[in-house]
Amino acid sequence: MSGPLLLSIESSCDETGVALIDGGRRIVSNVVASQVALHAPSGGIVPELAARAHLRWIVPSLDEAWDGAGVSWSDVGAIAVTYGPGLAGSLLVGINFAKALAWVHDKPLVAVNHLEGHVYAAWLLDPGEDAASKVEPIFPLVALVVSGGHTFLAEMTDHLTYRLLGTTVDDAAGEAFDKVGRLLGLGYPGGPAIQQAADGAVRRNVRFPRAWMGDSYDLSFSGLKTAARRIVADARADAGLADDPEAPLPAEVNAELAWGFQDAVIDVLATKTARAAREVGARSIVLGGGVAANRCLRETLAACADELDVPLIVPRPGLCTDNGAMIGAAGARRFAAGERAALDLDARPSLPLARR
Ligand code: KG4
Ligand code: ZN
Repeated sequence: MSGPLLLSIESSCDETGVALIDGGRRIVSNVVASQVALHAPSGGIVPELAARAHLRWIVPSLDEAWDGAGVSWSDVGAIAVTYGPGLAGSLLVGINFAKALAWVHDKPLVAVNHLEGHVYAAWLLDPGEDAASKVEPIFPLVALVVSGGHTFLAEMTDHLTYRLLGTTVDDAAGEAFDKVGRLLGLGYPGGPAIQQAADGAVRRNVRFPRAWMGDSYDLSFSGLKTAARRIVADARADAGLADDPEAPLPAEVNAELAWGFQDAVIDVLATKTARAAREVGARSIVLGGGVAANRCLRETLAACADELDVPLIVPRPGLCTDNGAMIGAAGARRFAAGERAALDLDARPSLPLARR
């Protein structure tokens, strides 16, 4: 795809992202100001703090995006911004910032669905990356998006065209990682911490339950979370820690439980994705969202894709978690399709991507 240079802004959750994306694919710059340290003490995102941190960091992030990019405002063809789903206060910071820039610099504004951004991260190219050596997603494809707030499987028959195959009926996969991470005393965010703990597991035979949801492509993680609570309580009793809620479990026990939990989540995600890919005759599989940074999920899905003889396209971990670049990649497609947002664009905290 060729196209103009886009300035893109992401502020839906707890990362402030500003990027410059050329031709819908090439990252010119991509700045992410993370709020992980800010929210870690409370073990989860505090919406009011998140919105204020976006306000604090959005201008420095823009300044940094320009630094050394070798381009200027006259090169920018449009401004893309996330307008949902996400936290209302956080979304509004990015939206109002983008509107002000669009008005001052007289540039068109493009509204982007955050979840579409996670899908389009699969098209991104790093600054020096060779386009010829990177497989571009091929339609029809099956996309699995697994983030902290959303988990779904969709079929794409063409650009910007989605059919929802299944979605979580309760918690998102990342939310389950975060909650079980807290249960194991591993801190926030739970995803990377559980992966790290699981890597150290010696015994790999703890079995957590799987919710298969019949033949559907729907997913459910709340039962797994409840089971984890019971399994952790039993392990604490076995270790003689039942009366001391502050005492940590021995590291090797934590590692085994982290492994068992991770194994259950990945088993369901990979099995359903592979089945969906087979059923729709997918010619490629795309994986995105924060949980797609998980090495074990990436490896398991790569093996499934291999077996189906289709490529798996998964961004590098830093482009799986929230960033501005993915909004630029999706925004460029929307821009090319003629979409323009008006200056009364509002936040849509519950914006869906696709319907069945
Ligand atoms: O996409 P994202 O950055 O934000 C949302 O849109 O929600 O996803 C954040 C989620 C968190 O729940 C975090 O624990 C999870 O992604 N995550 C991981 C890993 N890295 C981040 N989960 C499992 N393994 C990882 N390595
Ligand atoms: Zn996200």
